[in-house]
This record gives sequence, C-alpha cells and structure tokens, in this order.
Amino acid sequence: MSHKSFNPHHRILMGPGPSNVNPKVLTALSHATLGHLDPQFIELMDSIKQLLQYTFKTESDSTFVLSGPGSLGMEACLVNMVEPGDKVIVCTGGYFANRMVQIVEKIGGHPVVVRETWGRAIDPQKLEDALNVNADAKIVAFVHVETSTGALSDIKQLSEIAHRHNCLVVADVVTSLGAAEVSVDEWNLDAVYSCSQKGLACVAGMAPMAFSEHALYHIRNRKTPIQSWFNDLNLLLGYWSGGEKRMYHHTAPSNQFYGLHEALLILKEEGIENSWRRHKENSAKLISRLKGELDLEPIVPAGERIPHLLAIKVPDGVDEAKVRIELLTKHNLEIGAGLGELAGKIWRIGLMGYNSNEKMIDYFISALKKALDKN
Ligand SMILES: Cc1ncc(COP(=O)(O)O)c(C=O)c1O
Repeated sequence: MSHKSFNPHHRILMGPGPSNVNPKVLTALSHATLGHLDPQFIELMDSIKQLLQYTFKTESDSTFVLSGPGSLGMEACLVNMVEPGDKVIVCTGGYFANRMVQIVEKIGGHPVVVRETWGRAIDPQKLEDALNVNADAKIVAFVHVETSTGALSDIKQLSEIAHRHNCLVVADVVTSLGAAEVSVDEWNLDAVYSCSQKGLACVAGMAPMAFSEHALYHIRNRKTPIQSWFNDLNLLLGYWSGGEKRMYHHTAPSNQFYGLHEALLILKEEGIENSWRRHKENSAKLISRLKGELDLEPIVPAGERIPHLLAIKVPDGVDEAKVRIELLTKHNLEIGAGLGELAGKIWRIGLMGYNSNEKMIDYFISALKKALDKN
C-alpha cells in the first residue's frame, strides 16, 4: 500500500450525525495549537462555558465540555450519579436509551426499564406507574430525542414526574441541543450531556455537559467512590471551574475546542430560539415535499416527531441499502439506515445545524427521486 496525504470527498451529511461542519468552524480548527493551561486557552474555556450555559439555558457553574463523544457524556453522567445497588428507572424506546441500561448495569446499578414502542415518545403515565411501584428508585434517565427512531419525548413532563417522586434526572440531549428546545434549568434536568457533531455543526469528539446544584450535592455525598478516574466530576471541575487553582486533568484537545467555540458563537449570533424555529420550518417543508412528491411519510406520529431527524418508512419492494449506496456514490449524499428493531425498515434523514436550509432540501429531494427511479 502506498501512502499519501488524505483528501476526503466533500459529502453532504444528511444522516443522524455527524452533520456538515460550518466552514467557519473548519477554519477555526486549524488555528495555532495552544497548551491546555495557556492563559489564552483558559480564556477560551471560560468563553466556551458561558456559551454552553446560553445553549443549554442553564446558569449552572458545573457546565463544561468533556473531551470525548456523546457516549462518554452518557457514561460520565451515569457513573457520577449512580452508585452500585442504586435503582435507576430508564425510559427506553430505542437504541440509545438501551445503551443507558447497559451502562447502569456495568456500574452495578439496578435498571428498571420503562419500555416504549420504538417510534413513539415515552408515555409519561408509564413512568408514573413505574415510580409508584419502585418508591426506592433514586434516578430517572431518559433520552430527549431518540435518534434511532425519530421520536421526541416531553422530557419537561418526565422530569416533573421524576422530581415529584424524589428522583434526580439524567437526560440525553445529544440530538436535540442547538436544534430543538432544551431548557435545562426550567425543566429541572440534573445531569445532561450532548455531542458536538449534530445540532452544533462542529466535528465529533466533544460532549457538552451540565450538572445541577442538586446533582453536585448528590455526587459529593456518595457513600462509594466514583468508579472512574477520567469521568470523576470532582476532578473534571478542578480543571473547568478551578479559578486560580485550576489543575491539569488531561491534555485538552485545544484545536477541537476552537472549533466548538466558533460553532457556539455562530449559534449565539443566530439566536438559539431562531435556530429552533429554523429547524422546525425546514423540517415541515421537507415533510411536505416527501409526501407530495414521493409519497413518503415519517413513521413517528405528528406531535412526537423530532423536527430535524425524520425516520421515513422505506416503500415496499425497495432495497433500502441500494438506495443509500446510490445516494452516496452518485450524489455524495449520506443518509442513515435503521438501527436495531428498525434495521432495513426506515431511512433516517437529518436536516441539522448548518444543513438545515432549503438548498439542502432541494438537493436531497432531487437526488432521492433519481435513486428511487433506479431501484
Ligand atoms: C441519542 C444519542 N445518544 C448518544 C449517542 C452517542 O453519541 P456518540 O456517537 O457521539 O458517542 C448518540 C449518537 O448518535 C445519540 O444519537
């Protein structure tokens, strides 16, 4: 094999993530590298923290970025919040909530699964019922936007129910942050994590996080040590919120942080509410064109749908993989396949971040028409 510099195709990323990165973010990523304790880098970290507080709609001082993907954020929230033997109610209606169950098991917690049909929002009554028969539960965990199915749950209501039963809440906002409303303080979410590669239109590998005062108190009063060194919130906050005494925790990927900072700045300049509105409006246009021009429909009922990630039923007799391959090879366009129970049955079409605009809708509809004609 001969080796040369890597120069990838310019793909249009309209799957469940990553989405395309704003060119301004790509430029920011290539600035000169700084050390992780350089005073200029510390200023950048402080600015990222404030921009994240704006994006999450929280005033929590325990808001920061974990150097790792959304899955690390999931693990970090659970490993800090759950002690061995704790009962954790996990609301699952798809692949990613199932990952939460696996993590709870790995750290010795007892998951109680509230099961929802794939493709539907979590029914709040099911959570209420589970809490009524599990009065000793300590934590309730759920996914806001279940990327595997396209369903959006009302986590404000789920959180209200959990708190009424004296539980703390762990929420996955990986696919919602930046693209759909997430209001951490108003919704009383105690531990939240997200990712950088979807609604924020940045590169993958960073997990924005926020913990409430209540969560911090809970973590600081654990009876058992946190079963992770890297994800120990006390150590992470020593780097992110240490003020004058800020301490080295790990070598932060400084160039990646430049990119995230730029992405958050772009979002702030647009205005977070305007971004949510843009995603909703473009999604409505895409749904109407899919129905009107191709007779394709989302599997998730209206009212429970993620605006910016549509799970579309593959028409009978169509080889879903062939269509995806045709889109990729002939049109440089990536869309997602179904996962788990929905493998082979749906396509997942993302219109997120930088890609949520009419030009992308036009391109996608025209390419899909051609690919369907051939298959
Ligand atoms: C809802 C949800 N949670 C967690 C993850 C894991 O994120 P990552 O792939 O960045 O580890 C994903 C990834 O798509 C996701 O959609």
